[in-house]
Amino acid sequence: MKSLKGKVILVTGAGSGIGRTAARLFAAKGAQLILAGRRMEALIETLPNALHFTLDHSDEFAVAAFVSECPALDGMFLSAGQLVTGSVQDTPIRDFDTMIQANLRGPWLLCHHLGPRLKKGASVVLVGSNIALRAIPDSAAYSVSKAGVHMLTQVLALEWASRRIRCNAIAPGPVYTAMLEARLRQSSDPDGDLTKLAQVNPMQRLGREEEVANLAAHLLSNESAWTTGVVIPIDGGAAAVY
Ligand SMILES: NC(=O)c1ccc[n+]([C@@H]2O[C@H](COP(=O)([O-])OP(=O)(O)OC[C@H]3O[C@@H](n4cnc5c(N)ncnc54)[C@H](OP(=O)(O)O)[C@@H]3O)[C@@H](O)[C@H]2O)c1
Repeated sequence: MKSLKGKVILVTGAGSGIGRTAARLFAAKGAQLILAGRRMEALIETLPNALHFTLDHSDEFAVAAFVSECPALDGMFLSAGQLVTGSVQDTPIRDFDTMIQANLRGPWLLCHHLGPRLKKGASVVLVGSNIALRAIPDSAAYSVSKAGVHMLTQVLALEWASRRIRCNAIAPGPVYTAMLEARLRQSSDPDGDLTKLAQVNPMQRLGREEEVANLAAHLLSNESAWTTGVVIPIDGGAAAVY
């Protein structure tokens, strides 16, 4: 049984990493995909037969223009995001602004403008982070922006419940994607950092894109029809213990 059969689903950040893997999985489960990201070629490579839109989701005019062309939706998986590392003291204010724009303003704008276009019974899944549930030292602006995503999720679940629209967030631990690779490239000890990241959780390994995508697919499907307003860690148990 294809659990997303016939559903029209928007995926942002669909040109790489978790968004790309999720888009392909949703298509395999029967969904019709609308893909958004900043690089058209990458979106086409993800799924040549989807609808593709180049979009900087932090640009309000671009989002408004996109919304005027976007069909009514049964679901959204808002995966687009960026990472900068650093403490509150060390992070330049422009990097803080970048984190808020890329990780919080973008999903906010999409929910603000696309909310009216969501069909009754739709499901929205945002991507937060497990380091927005528990503090770690070196990703202050990122963690703060993702904590905003978690609260945005819960507020929307409340606001949209009367339309039978659900809204949930996934809070992944480290998953090996372009984002993690870029973080490791900045490190003086990438192998050591990778080992540490994998050992933080009781399962003693990194997550996989497919594992995050599978949880998103469940939340977008009718199988999770009574689940809304939650932030679900998917991190090998890290959020439970550290
Ligand atoms: N990987 C992890 O360890 C991890 C852990 C927790 C949470 N997450 C979250 O998971 C999500 C996916 O990340 P990923 O690991 O799959 O990294 P990724 O491969 O770097 O994917 C991020 C995607 O976001 C898009 N994007 C960034 N800024 C954008 C903007 N302003 N407008 C539109 N698209 C934008 C990028 O598109 P372009 O390249 O085309 O610009 C890219 O495709 C992110 O929200 C991230 O914070 C990741």
